[in-house]
This record gives sequence, structure tokens and C-alpha cells, in this order.
Amino acid sequence: MFKRIFGKSKIEKSLLEEQKNLSKNDLIPTHIAIIMDGNGRWAKKRAMPRIAGHHEGMKTVRKIARCADDVGIKILTLYAFSTENWKRPKQEVDFLMSLPQQFLKSFMPEIMERNIRVQLIGEKDELPQTTKAVLNEAMEKTKDNTGLILNFAMNYGSRAEIVKAMKDIMIEVRDGKLTIDDINEETINDYLMTSQLPEPDLLIRTSGEVRLSNFMLWQLAYTEFWFTDTLWPDFDEQCFMEAILDYQKRNRRYGGLKGEEMN
Ligand code: IPE
Ligand code: IPE
Ligand code: MG
Repeated sequence: MFKRIFGKSKIEKSLLEEQKNLSKNDLIPTHIAIIMDGNGRWAKKRAMPRIAGHHEGMKTVRKIARCADDVGIKILTLYAFSTENWKRPKQEVDFLMSLPQQFLKSFMPEIMERNIRVQLIGEKDELPQTTKAVLNEAMEKTKDNTGLILNFAMNYGSRAEIVKAMKDIMIEVRDGKLTIDDINEETINDYLMTSQLPEPDLLIRTSGEVRLSNFMLWQLAYTEFWFTDTLWPDFDEQCFMEAILDYQKRNRRYGGLKGEEMN
């Protein structure tokens, strides 16, 4: 069914109808994580300021969130700002920090209509007051929504997340709430910011970079990776479908053997 859809050149209403049926397919990934990269290069190619690329990238976020919802993805995690991105010029950082407000202002009615729940991973307290406030408001407003989880990684860094989890676990041990023998993979998982979410099934990175840039190091242990040269502002439903189609062809072994391979 997927092939048939992918073969079409235009994504139209009827196609979206068909996409909805895909949610019945077991091979639809539950959780997709995306490293949205290439906004700056997109702008540079057009002799525009980098922030114009970020603005265009925001439109892609909307497009892909809609598509993920239509296809029946349960969780879409989007890497929007890393703990390392503070190194960028202040003007660019300020613009990136204003994007959640711009995004939510225009998209919130549709978020509610689609029953989407907004969530966040990352060090929220280090965000500017307004950014924090709009994100808090969106999370509060959507907390009872039961559809797609739109999870933004904002001021997120995997190493910082792991360090924090380690410290929190050690505090529990110090206070006698956990013993060293209690600590296993599940415990560590429970202390990460993603504790309530299943691990990503599929990781997409755009713009031709083939690295993780400090993203979900623990959680991606058995995730399928998919890279594309397409820059994030140019990424569209077709690319997203292509990634899912490729995912469907993968053989996830988790270190074991599958089916016939056992013989
Ligand atoms: C991704 O695009 C957005 C963020 C990292 C915030 P970039 O801004 O990294 O774009 P390039 O990699 O410079 O093209
Ligand atoms: C990763 O992209 C971070 C986000 C997409 C938010 P970067 O553009 O910051 O990564 P590097 O610097 O190329 O590794
Ligand atoms: Mg980049």
C-alpha cells in the first residue's frame, strides 16, 4: 500500500485518506525522532539570513506534524535546539527562542482540533522566560489530548540528560530510596527525560550530516537510522513517506535472529 502512495507525485486529500488506513499497519513506527538540520544552508543558498531558514523550517515542522498525525505515528520528537546551540550568535539564538511562540500562535487551534499533545524534553529552566511560558502553556492546554505526542527537544543534550539522571539516582541511593543493586537499565530509563516515552523506532536526520550531535544517545541504541541530503526546509511529506517506507524494509534483529534465520 505504501508503495502505491509513494509512487504518486502529489499528496492530495484522497491520499491523506489512504494514509489514515496505514495506521493499521504494524510496521508504522510508533515513535519517530528527527534531527531537523540544514536551515542555515537553505538560507545561504538563497542569499538570505540564517533566520529566514529557521522560519522556513518552522513551516516544515507544521507539515510533518500533520503528516505524522495522518499516518498514525504516536510520537514525533523534534530536535529543535541543542545544549550546544547556545554557541551561536545572539541574534540567531534569540530568533530560535522566539520560534515556539510563532509556531504555537498559528498552529494551536489545529493542535487542539487534531487532539495533539505538546511535550518537551530538555532543560526548560534555562530557556528565556517567554519561551518557557508559551511552552508551559501549550503543554498545559494539551495535557489531556490523546492523539499524536509532539515532543520538542529544546535546550536538549543527551550527555547533560544522562549526567542529571546519574545525579538523581545517586541522591536516591544516598537517601536510602534505592540500593546499588536496584540499578538496572530500566532504572536509568526511568530517570531520563524520556521516561514516559518508548524509544524511537526511526531516527531521521536531514541535510547530509551523518552524526547524532548529542541527541538521545541512550534511547537510540536500537533505533533505525535514516539520513537524507535534503535540507530541513525542503523536507516534505514525500521524504517522510520515503523514510517510513525504508524503515518498513528493515529487519530489526536486536542482536538476535529472526524467523527463517533461526533455521
Ligand atoms: C538546524 O539548522 C536548526 C538548528 C540547529 C537549530 P542549522 O541552523 O543547523 O542549519 P545548518 O546546519 O547551519 O545548515
Ligand atoms: C543538531 O544540529 C541540533 C539540532 C538540529 C537542533 P546542529 O546543526 O547544531 O549540529 P552540528 O553542529 O552540525 O553537529
Ligand atoms: Mg546544522
